Amino acid sequence: MGELSPSVEPDDVEVDASLRPRTLTEFIGQPRVREQLELVLQAAQGRGTPPDHILLSGPPGLGKTSLALIVAEELGAAVRLTSGPALERAGDLAAMLSNLAPGDVLFIDEIHRIARPAEEMLYLAMEDFRVDVVVGKGPGATSIPLDIAPFTLVGATTRSGALTGPLRDRFGFTAHMEFYEPHELERVLRRAAVILGVDLHADGAAEIAGRSRGTPRIANRLLRRVRDFAEVRADGAVTRAVAQDALAVYDVDELGLDRLDRAVLGALVRSFGGGPVGVSTLAVAVGEEPGTVEEVCEPYLVRAGMLARTPRGRVATASAWAHLGLTAPPDVAPGGPPPLF
Ligand SMILES: Nc1ncnc2c1ncn2[C@@H]1O[C@H](COP(=O)(O)OP(=O)(O)O)[C@@H](O)[C@H]1O
Ligand SMILES: [Mg+2]
Repeated sequence: MGELSPSVEPDDVEVDASLRPRTLTEFIGQPRVREQLELVLQAAQGRGTPPDHILLSGPPGLGKTSLALIVAEELGAAVRLTSGPALERAGDLAAMLSNLAPGDVLFIDEIHRIARPAEEMLYLAMEDFRVDVVVGKGPGATSIPLDIAPFTLVGATTRSGALTGPLRDRFGFTAHMEFYEPHELERVLRRAAVILGVDLHADGAAEIAGRSRGTPRIANRLLRRVRDFAEVRADGAVTRAVAQDALAVYDVDELGLDRLDRAVLGALVRSFGGGPVGVSTLAVAVGEEPGTVEEVCEPYLVRAGMLARTPRGRVATASAWAHLGLTAPPDVAPGGPPPLF
């Protein structure tokens, strides 16, 4: 995977925590999601009951975990964290659920990867605040219903389409996170620069924002790499020129595409004549997991108008050919970024 891809990498974990917005007011961008969530939370607080279960969906690095923690913070509630892959056995989930205190927030990251038995236990827990604990094995096994505290489940997923219908239906509110506009990423960067003590100039912020794939996590990561460069090769100030030189070193191109993005486009165009080709074939060609190509790489390429997902497979648009310095065959769709309004 490219080093500057939106997935979480080891050096992010600590910095992410220090740069995480703590309240809805500190949370930049996503105006619709913020407004909707504010209503959900305020109404619930007015009624004195935990809010409906909340599903946050969108590509990595757009602020899902941050928002989940903010929900708890705004409610003044305690938060328990777990993830779909960690809930392999229903018993693990039963233990978590029965330990919840009234009003707690349970955050399940990557909820689409939850195992089936745990998922089924979740249905009853979400709907009736109950779990059925199975005692014994085989024909003699009995299930004992157990009341649990009313809680709010916050689920996060990079693939809401992979959620089963019954699970999706049990969320009262779903927030779809969008890629951020460059001016919003500039604000993310200015905030991070203050926290990290980086001398970030306005033109430097604009340059980094434009190459951050619409993703705050990437913006913050690029800022750190550019800061390294500025300290070692310049006087520490992050200007446009310094940002450009630094990002060239790190293989981030003018559109913010990283090595994996370019490998995917390159394979699509050079090995498969621009497609259509299935995502698994494409993933093999670049030596990545299909899930990574699909969830990490493609959403931004689609958004940037370089790649189209069709029923027959992935297709490169003329913009993709042009970005690779090639001329598209005449019948290729033009592509390019969608109109802003
Ligand atoms: N709206 C935002 N405002 C400011 N910083 C943000 C915002 N969203 C994300 N970030 C930054 O990006 C990092 C990654 O966000 P995170 O919530 O972990 O994304 P996700 O869970 O969707 O992968 C955060 O630690 C924070 O530094
Ligand atoms: Mg997350």
